[in-house]
Amino acid sequence: MEMDKDVSSYNAFKTPARSRYFLSVGSLDDIPVLNEAVKGARSSNLPILFLGGGTNCLFAFDTFDGLMIRNNLKGYYFDDARRVVASSGELISALSTELYRLHGLSTFMPWVGLPGTVGGAVAGNAGCFGLEISQALVEVEAFSFKEEKIVTIGASELGFEYRNSNIKGKDGLFLLSARFRTEGIDHPYLLVTPEEMLVLRKSKQPPGRTCGSFFKNPPGDSAGRLIDQAGLKGFRIGGIRVSEMHGNFFLADADADWRDIIALSEHVKRTVKEKFDIDLHEEVRIITN
Ligand code: EPU
Repeated sequence: MEMDKDVSSYNAFKTPARSRYFLSVGSLDDIPVLNEAVKGARSSNLPILFLGGGTNCLFAFDTFDGLMIRNNLKGYYFDDARRVVASSGELISALSTELYRLHGLSTFMPWVGLPGTVGGAVAGNAGCFGLEISQALVEVEAFSFKEEKIVTIGASELGFEYRNSNIKGKDGLFLLSARFRTEGIDHPYLLVTPEEMLVLRKSKQPPGRTCGSFFKNPPGDSAGRLIDQAGLKGFRIGGIRVSEMHGNFFLADADADWRDIIALSEHVKRTVKEKFDIDLHEEVRIITN
């Protein structure tokens, strides 16, 4: 356990942030320490945050006044049915690339370039270019703080919906691994290489200090298109701006402040509401104390 830890690098916008308590979980041997830390935080009524890559998180605080737990579990293997069992702290893009390079597996090609970890992607039902996590997931293993043991949960019990699951933002379960099917998954990128996938992504989505899509797409429409049509591309507040390439991407400068990101988000929501009478809802998780 660390105290007053600098956690600036654990949020996509890299805004300055600290955490009162911080724990990194790097192996299953750390589970007893994890369990005790969570019990302690709960008994002191401290907020608890489970963090993967933090790539879909906006830290809306200067110091998180609680316990931040970073999932650093690494590794993967194939089970007897040639399904992939990936530790939840694995970076999903690197994993998808390695599965292609070392094992000739194209199944997860759409996820090449997808920021974040396996655990974060499962919790948020991440998806891009025609492949959502819920389409490939068989089950997860997680540590249940209620039962104080490792449990297996089938994909159908995770309440998946667009960019959401029933474990996103909850602290009852700590994801350990995810088992993915590798067969029977269809998408247009089965014949594409990771390099080509990255070129495709860069042609549509800007790199940099960004959490990817900031808002969920409203039903039947695109948040990026609406923000674009509202004339907001390039609109800036302090060190944060709407990308000139894609309206649903916010890009942070090195000196960005989280307050400006919230202000930009509110301005974009207000403008889109005024112009199109459509409510945008954040896809990014806004973490407060
Ligand atoms: N568009 C504009 N202007 C813009 C941006 C988009 O007119 O500034 C138009 C595009 O031309 C296109 C439509 O809006 O006709 C949709 O745009 P795009 O193809 O870029 O897809 P998206 O709906 O903005 C979604 C996901 C992305 C995912 C891509 C590709 C959401 C909120 N976003 O973006 O997911 O990578 O499809 O599959 O669901 C993420 O969740 O972080 C993410 C990046």
